[in-house]
Amino acid sequence: MSSLDSKVVDIHTHMYPPAYVELLESRKTIPLIRRFEGAKDPRYIILPAEAEALDKITASDPNTLPTNLPGRPVTTHYSSLAQKLHFMDTHGIDISVISLANPWLDFVPSETAGETAKSVNSAFSEMCSTAPGRLFFFATLPLTAPPETLLAAIGHIKGLKYCRGVILGTSGLGKGLDDAALIPVFRALAANKLTIFLHPHYGLPSEVWGPRATEEYGHVLPLALGFPMETTIAVARMYLAGVFDAVPDLRMLLAHSGGTLPFLAGRIESCIVHDGHLVREGKVKSTRRTIWQVLKEQVYLDAVIYSDVGLKAAIDASGVDRLMFGTDHPFFPPLNSDEQGEWESMTWNKEAVSKALGADSEAARAVMGGNAVEVLKLYGDD
Ligand code: URA
Ligand code: ZN
Repeated sequence: MSSLDSKVVDIHTHMYPPAYVELLESRKTIPLIRRFEGAKDPRYIILPAEAEALDKITASDPNTLPTNLPGRPVTTHYSSLAQKLHFMDTHGIDISVISLANPWLDFVPSETAGETAKSVNSAFSEMCSTAPGRLFFFATLPLTAPPETLLAAIGHIKGLKYCRGVILGTSGLGKGLDDAALIPVFRALAANKLTIFLHPHYGLPSEVWGPRATEEYGHVLPLALGFPMETTIAVARMYLAGVFDAVPDLRMLLAHSGGTLPFLAGRIESCIVHDGHLVREGKVKSTRRTIWQVLKEQVYLDAVIYSDVGLKAAIDASGVDRLMFGTDHPFFPPLNSDEQGEWESMTWNKEAVSKALGADSEAARAVMGGNAVEVLKLYGDD
């Protein structure tokens, strides 16, 4: 075993380069960053329900600051590299694989998406070079750009020393990730050994949360349930469309321990083999790879599930060697203690790993960092 096997690695941790913050500050519709007179930090507003709250405030007395501002505070944790390194040091994290957070460049006009992606990815590359060996990154693709610009972006990032893959939402080119037009993109990523970090943003339609959600339930339903279901649906659609067979070298790291896939994979299998339409169409061949096989061969899962129960399902589904620790920093900051101190996102996820696998066991060390080092090749010449 090399000493890298005992490193602690955070593979799910976001950064907002200053140019991206400026882009969000210049916007009038979500996603946007808005400063409110009298509030300590600007607010980052991305979810449709938050946009409704924003409209209400805009229509009300501009001199009265409501107690419940929409969105979340944009603290220094979003864009300060010193703050990221402080978070890592406070929590014993040796290496972070940083990525832009949702909704990435999904809202950027086609004509400027290529240039915006280039500047964001160059900013990430630059950030990583200031702490060699401690920072790597997942790049961002200009998905709204014309196909040749999109493929050129992969050409750009494959040459960036600290880039290990791309963070991707579920909308793809606008029709989801089972869109045949994405196959060349998946092939180009796979050919360059760039792992896709699949991350949700859109959740489920607001109606499913009911009329009481916006006023009474905060962000709990969209974040706890909408996000994981979105990931689950996106991967199930890719599987049904045969994307994993079409691009066998494709590797995907799924956020939030795969949504609910580890728990629902059996049900997905049963629904496939009992589907008269699929059977009649000859799509349920005895030689087909089951979703269980894809989970064990092409999928990695992060360990951002906050409990050993979810973690055990993830381990059973994909294998302990395919699970990687993460924090989701700077989201979910502690609300009643100093943000410069310990965050529950670290302690809960770390304790879940210890509880599922035994504190400081070889398997726990692999999940805490060894797997990420191996899979993402988090080493270099410095
Ligand atoms: N985690 C994220 O990455 N994004 C959010 O919007 C909330 C939590
Ligand atoms: Zn995240």
